[in-house]
Amino acid sequence: MNDHLSDIETLRRNARAHIDRGPITEAYGADSERVIAVLNEVLATELVCALRYKRHYFMASGLSSSSVASEFQQHAAEEESHADRIAARIVQLRGEPDFNPATLEKRSHAEYVTGNDLVDMIREDLVAERVAIASYQEIVRWLGETDTTTRRLIEDVLAVEEEHADDLLTLLEQMGRPA
Ligand SMILES: [Fe+2]
Ligand SMILES: [Fe+2]
Repeated sequence: MNDHLSDIETLRRNARAHIDRGPITEAYGADSERVIAVLNEVLATELVCALRYKRHYFMASGLSSSSVASEFQQHAAEEESHADRIAARIVQLRGEPDFNPATLEKRSHAEYVTGNDLVDMIREDLVAERVAIASYQEIVRWLGETDTTTRRLIEDVLAVEEEHADDLLTLLEQMGRPA
């Protein structure tokens, strides 16, 4: 028998004793309050990115750059779905997702920089993606084996942010304006 695994009796006793903690069991290795706080920073980052991409989508549509605009629109929708998934995980961990608009940008890792022309907008989005990529990589390493569900979620989101950064760099290259 593997010494690292709890026996069935202990698992059953603990599961019954702490049912008010929902999915958080004795095997949960992370500090859930700390994880919730970090997830709220990720939530703020995703919401700020969704808002910035939305502005860029409408601005680019005005500049009649439909291919860039549709890229912005797709990214905005993906950041929004990331925000939803992060908020759902916060609630699963018995926390409260913070959607307070007054403090959103302060809590976000990435900034809300509007950009003046198309190239500016793409560059600012690329900077924001690179901030998110670096901070999510840190979070993945920090979580390690302690909360593998949250880690998988962040890894999923991270993979999409890397696609976004790649999309943006490709756009700059296509425009003959490499970053
Ligand atoms: Fe995202
Ligand atoms: Fe992104």
